[in-house]
Amino acid sequence: MSIKDIIIVPDETLKKISDPVEKVGEAEKKLINDLFDTMYNSNGIGLAAVQVGVLKRILVVDVSTKEEKKKPMCFINPIIRKLSDDMSIYEEGCLSIPDTFIEIQRPKICEVEFIDIDGKINNLKCDGLLSTCLQHEINHLDGKLIIDHLSKLKRDLIVKKISKNKKDPDRIIV
Ligand code: NI
Repeated sequence: MSIKDIIIVPDETLKKISDPVEKVGEAEKKLINDLFDTMYNSNGIGLAAVQVGVLKRILVVDVSTKEEKKKPMCFINPIIRKLSDDMSIYEEGCLSIPDTFIEIQRPKICEVEFIDIDGKINNLKCDGLLSTCLQHEINHLDGKLIIDHLSKLKRDLIVKKISKNKKDPDRIIV
């Protein structure tokens, strides 16, 4: 088990476009395990490889509730094939942007093609929280963050606040 440090804004790595995975080898499988460990450790429901500083098109999600059995899902080289016209709104947070929640409207249903951990091509049609979470994580692979949905002014304010908090060692959240 290996928990990685999650990089946070304004780290420029988060703006980079991740590279497609050519082969699902041992390194990728280890990375996927680390992503799950890191995501569960932070109580997140999704995590992209770029968030631990690895620019590979890999992401993990688990949208199961506390009462349910864990449902880890891994997506390699995910491509959105279809988006619904119907939209839904969630208040989204991001492990790379502490203490920030933004209402974002996204297509309600999405169809995603991806490679699974065995290297096989798969398709998934999803709705609700899973659909939103997947779209959020796929945005990460393209260097796009939830704060990019805001005006530059609002975005700069949030990043400034986070950068300031980072330098203040006395601040605690209880
Ligand atoms: Ni995120």
